[in-house]
This record gives sequence, C-alpha cells and structure tokens, in this order.
Amino acid sequence: MSIKRTLVKEAHGAAAPVDDIWLQGWVRTRRDAKTFSFVELNDGSCLKGMQVIVNSSLPGYADLMRRAATGSAISARGRLVASQGAGQKWEVIATEFAVIGEAGADYPLQKKGCSLEFLREIAHLRPRTNLFGAVFRIRSRLAYAIHQFFQERGFHYVHTPIITASDCEGAGEMFGVSTLDPAKPPRNPDGSVDYSKDFFGRKTSLTVSGQLEGETFACALSNIYTFGPTFRAENSNTSRHAAEFWMVEPEAAFLELEGDMQLAEDFVKHLVRDACEHCAEDLEFLGKFVDKGLRERLEFVMERPFQRCSYTQAVEILASSGHAWEHPVAWGDNLQSEHERFLAEEHFKCPVTVHDYPRALKPFYMKVNAPDAAGRETVRAMDVLVPGIGEIIGGSQREERLDVLLENMARQGLKEADYRWYADLRRHGTVPHAGFGLGFERLLMFVTGVGNIRDVIPYARTPGNAAF
Ligand code: 4AD
Ligand code: MG
Repeated sequence: MSIKRTLVKEAHGAAAPVDDIWLQGWVRTRRDAKTFSFVELNDGSCLKGMQVIVNSSLPGYADLMRRAATGSAISARGRLVASQGAGQKWEVIATEFAVIGEAGADYPLQKKGCSLEFLREIAHLRPRTNLFGAVFRIRSRLAYAIHQFFQERGFHYVHTPIITASDCEGAGEMFGVSTLDPAKPPRNPDGSVDYSKDFFGRKTSLTVSGQLEGETFACALSNIYTFGPTFRAENSNTSRHAAEFWMVEPEAAFLELEGDMQLAEDFVKHLVRDACEHCAEDLEFLGKFVDKGLRERLEFVMERPFQRCSYTQAVEILASSGHAWEHPVAWGDNLQSEHERFLAEEHFKCPVTVHDYPRALKPFYMKVNAPDAAGRETVRAMDVLVPGIGEIIGGSQREERLDVLLENMARQGLKEADYRWYADLRRHGTVPHAGFGLGFERLLMFVTGVGNIRDVIPYARTPGNAAF
C-alpha cells in the first residue's frame, strides 16, 4: 500500500490518533531502554521533533539502533498515539523503521550547547540545530509576510538589477563586476583601466540598493517594492554589517516624508505581528534561550506608536544627556551607533524615527528642505532606530525638482551623463515620491533577539570571510 509522508508539524496537529503514519527526518537524540528505544525524529518542519518508539521486537532492532545515531537520516512508519510521557501530545509506535543515511561518528552536533562561533564554522550543518531551525523558519515566514504586506496594499514587486553602473548611495563601497584579466587589464593612455573593453563596455558593480531603478517603476506603477540581495564593500567588522544582505525597498509616487514614515512604522509592526502569530513556538524557544525579554519587547513594539524626532532635536537630546560619548556630537556630524542606541534604548525607550538630516551627510537623491532659521540645510531623510540594534530602516522623500537634483549631483561629483535616465524622471511628469530600505537581517535580529547578523543569514559574507 502506498502512503504519503507526513511532516512532523502536521502530525503534531493531528486531532485524533492515526493508524498508519509515515515520517522521515534526522535523529536528534536517542535513548535506549530495556525493551525499546526512544528516537527523536526532527524534520525541520517545526521546532519540536516526534518521539518514535522502536520496540526491540522489530526485525533487525539491534543493528538499526546501532546505525540510528544522532544525525542519521531515518524513516519511521507506525501508529500515531497519545503520548504516555509529558512534553508531547503524540508519539509514534514504529511498525517499520529504516536508516536512510548514517551519520559518521564525528558528526559535530552531538551535544547541546555548541557556541555560536563554533556553529559558524559548520554553517552547512547548523540549520539542524534548534536555534538555527527557529531563525530560518522565521526568516522564511517574514519573507512571505513582506510580500503579503505590500501586495495587499497595491504595491507591485519589481526585480531591480543586481549588476549596475550607478552608485545609489554615493559611498563608493561597491564590489566591481568585471571579466577583464586583473593581471593585465587594458589601459587608457593615462594608465587607468579601460573599462570600455570590459564585458559591459563600462565599469559595473554589484548593486548597493535597487532604489534608483525602483523609482523609475514607481513613477509608472505608482507603488512598487523590491526585495533582493544588495552588496556593500564597506570594511565594517561589526555584528550588524554584512557585505551581502537582503533589502526590502518600497517606493511610492505621490508620497511625502510623513506618509513614508507612517508606511515604515506600519510595515515593521506588520512583520512583528506576523511573526508573533505564525512563529509562536520558535519565538518562545528564542525567548527562553537567546533573549529573555524578547516577547515583551515585541508586544511593546506592536502596541505603541513609534516616536519621531528631527535630527536637530536628536543632537540637542544627545548633547544635553550628560553622557560621556566616545564620539561627541555637534550639528552636522553623523549619528554613531552609540547615539542611535541611546536614543532608542535610553531616551525614548522605543523605536524612534529620526528625520530631516543635514544635507551634507546624505546622498544626492534626497529632497532638500528650505534652510532653517540658522541657515542650516537639511534633507527629507528618515531613519528608523530600534532598541538593541540601531538603524533598521533608512529612507527619504526624493528630490523631484530637476534643478535641485542636478545641483546635488554636481556637489557630490556625479556625472550627469551617468544618471541621465534618473534625472529624466524629473523631466517627464515628475511627482513627489518617497521610499525606504529595510535591512532584512537587521529586522530578523530585532525579531529573533539574535545578536549577530552572521547568525540570521544562511551563509554570511563579511570582511575576510566567504566560506561555503
Ligand atoms: O540606509 P541605507 O544605506 O539606505 C539605502 O540604501 C536607500 N537606498 C534605501 C531606500 O531609500 N530605498 O540602507 C537601508 C538599510 C539600513 O537601514 C540597514 O537596515 C540596511 O539597509 N543595511 C545593512 N544591513 C546589513 N549590512 C550592511 N552592511 C547594511 N547596510 C545597510
Ligand atoms: Mg542608512
């Protein structure tokens, strides 16, 4: 008789006993009693495994149990019955049991409580731990929730290119893409590399952001979002920076800064709420073993409005805080991580959106405000800062006036010819528009309580590290 495999998650959800059920997965633990063994089968469909009871009367019992060591792939068919033991509703009494693939004696996940650093060295096996199973199920669910949030609000998903000739953030922190021989590239008379001979006939890189291309679609489809990998060659070896990370970037025509900040707040709340609703078991685990205050923090975020404060107010708060800063702040300086965290964690004790930053600190595409009473120039930028992490979202209203945009480009040394298509949006039917970028891994750190970006992305790319 043919029978379909059941996932452990479905089996745990059974309303009544099942006469014949078939599970496949990996052995997490095994305990041998006199006349039977308990085998915990985990298939990654949920945090919990299924306890399988293998009686010693089963043919080949001794050999099977010798081979069904921790880490081995197994198949168990039998009866799903109410469990006698505490801690689970159901268990399986095996009528058939097979070892599909044995784990070697050197299987590294024998004991619980391996350090996160050690697990990074075996990143190909760490998804088999409770912690990484939980994190990556949440990652998957939230990727879905991102699409759901925007699709339900009439935003269209645009696949912006990964290879680009423009530097959106203007920070010059890009990974080049080239097929030229690095040992002997063609050269211009002045000795510089002649990229006109390169694959694309020009200098190209991996994108730092899909925003510029996203804007072109927002100025046609009104509301769009991108969600994909982005790359930054910044040499920041911190727990919050990765060289390859995923960014979600909505962009909306006829939207101004105010609406953009509201969209960002609604979006973050939607994702937190979705995780609490759909990943409760995994979050409970993370709340126990990773971050005791997790659930409380997430509830807090869902319930309260985010605080808002201008950059100028933020600088005043920081300067009058009496705090001994490693980097003292004056108007015009970048806010450092210590400042961002102080604002969210100690001053507001809540997510806070800081807006209207100094013009000189920000990229060319941001909308310029009229100078303030003191003659200081700001742009319609906004960053969402959250406790424990700092910035998770950066966005702005875009400069829709051609003359101001061109002036910004000139100030930042950008060649008009390189951004002609972008400036064209301001020549043909220009509109106020705005958007933002959410760092998906930063959001995941916030939702899971995991403290290092390397542990919320399957294979981290950071300075000096691209293993796997
Ligand atoms: O603030 P950023 O640089 O903004 C942009 O790229 C805009 N073009 C977005 C837009 O308006 N469409 O980056 C956005 C977010 C940051 O707030 C942060 O969460 C994340 O991307 N981020 C990183 N995450 C991990 N590692 C890095 N190196 C990151 N750099 C930025
Ligand atoms: Mg930023």
